[in-house]
Amino acid sequence: MPATATIIKAFTTLKPREEWSFRDAGRSQTTAFTHDYHRYPAKFIPQIVRKLIEDYAPSGTQVVCDPFGGCGTTLVEAKMLGHKSIGFDINPVAKLITQTKTTAIKPKTLANTRNKFLKYYENAPSVSYNHHQRINYWFDEPTIQELDKIYFAIKKIKNHNVRRFFLCSFSHNLKNCSRWLMKSIKPTIDKEKTVPNPKESFLRHLDSMIKKNGQFYSTLAQSGYTNVSTKMYRRDSTKKFPIEQEMIDLVITSPPYVTSYEYADLHQLTLLWFGGDPKHFKKWHHFSNEFIDFRRNFIGTSSKNEKSGEFNSVIAEKIIDDLMQVERPLAVDVANYFLDMKKVFAEIHRVLKTGGKACIIIGNTSLRGVEILNAQVAAEQMQAAGFRKPVFIKREIPNKMITPYRDLESGKFTGKDNPSKVRAYEYEYVVVMDKV
Ligand SMILES: C[S@@+](CC[C@H](N)C(=O)[O-])C[C@H]1O[C@@H](n2cnc3c(N)ncnc32)[C@H](O)[C@@H]1O
Repeated sequence: MPATATIIKAFTTLKPREEWSFRDAGRSQTTAFTHDYHRYPAKFIPQIVRKLIEDYAPSGTQVVCDPFGGCGTTLVEAKMLGHKSIGFDINPVAKLITQTKTTAIKPKTLANTRNKFLKYYENAPSVSYNHHQRINYWFDEPTIQELDKIYFAIKKIKNHNVRRFFLCSFSHNLKNCSRWLMKSIKPTIDKEKTVPNPKESFLRHLDSMIKKNGQFYSTLAQSGYTNVSTKMYRRDSTKKFPIEQEMIDLVITSPPYVTSYEYADLHQLTLLWFGGDPKHFKKWHHFSNEFIDFRRNFIGTSSKNEKSGEFNSVIAEKIIDDLMQVERPLAVDVANYFLDMKKVFAEIHRVLKTGGKACIIIGNTSLRGVEILNAQVAAEQMQAAGFRKPVFIKREIPNKMITPYRDLESGKFTGKDNPSKVRAYEYEYVVVMDKV
């Protein structure tokens, strides 16, 4: 049977595996240790990563890589299991969060710095920064003044890791203090929002991070893993990874979805705030000022220029043909997505050691009535890149929301009668393949 038919058949007969649903994992488990430092869209639950590492890197120190590192779930779990790790993400906010989440700080240092921070805050002069103009769209004036004072006080912290810890809390708190509709997956103004007191809300989150750091620190100290190396780079993973070939034992990653989350938009408050401070955030200046350019390189984003090339997937060709019949611009977005992913799979293959495994966590979707079989396309593209011995796992994503629907335009949760509703993902797949 040709490879495409084998893949299609394998997926058609696949049953969800209960042990991969992690149905019983409560919030306290999914947010344990540093996993809850910062909200991040479409992060995977740590339990999946942990199980994959335990299954595929059971002993010894191995090197784990996540080319779509996001907020660092893979890197945190790898460290806690004593493995070295390396991550990439195009989003500078992802890098900041991941570096913070993988660095355990002595609890006493954080307690002392918190006290110093309060003094710096009390003595802060009325600073007035030259903010990006969009800051005034998202925040009211008194909130901006309060945030300025907090930001001023954080910047007085000398130790780099500790300052970054405070900045991570600050970044998380920006959305709370803005007019942004919380939980929306699109930048939307909430006209009825009561904005909290910035200092109180910042300290509340900081204190929860301090507590989580304490657990992380003592767990790593007990297992002797405090100094296990984790590296996170801001990189475009469609380009050559900054590592030699055959360096990696295990890849665990969940790629972005096509036309789903606009990561650049969703982190714009942090980009705007830090980008407006070129003295301390040199490279970020460009991201906020050339936002359209910056956003364009995210995989799966819409309104990109049309790219050309082979998909290395018969299934992808059929999907694009079908989409062309209904909406050409959408077909172009999806085609660009498949072409980008093909490049990433080739790079994953290059950097893996022979015998190493790639685990891709990915969901299928439907756009304008056309099934977008991301998992099947990934399997085909990986085979074309040289991967073999496929294992496909189907997992149910237990839905803990009251309604599984969101409004397409606003991103708000919505009921089943809304004609512009989109359904949250019910299942996803883990595609595991070997470099032979
Ligand atoms: C599904 S999320 C990964 C979430 C991650 N598993 C976690 O738990 O936080 C996909 C990530 O891909 C990143 N991304 C999008 N385009 C990229 C590119 N060209 N190169 C590298 N990363 C990219 C996004 O910024 C986002 O963080």
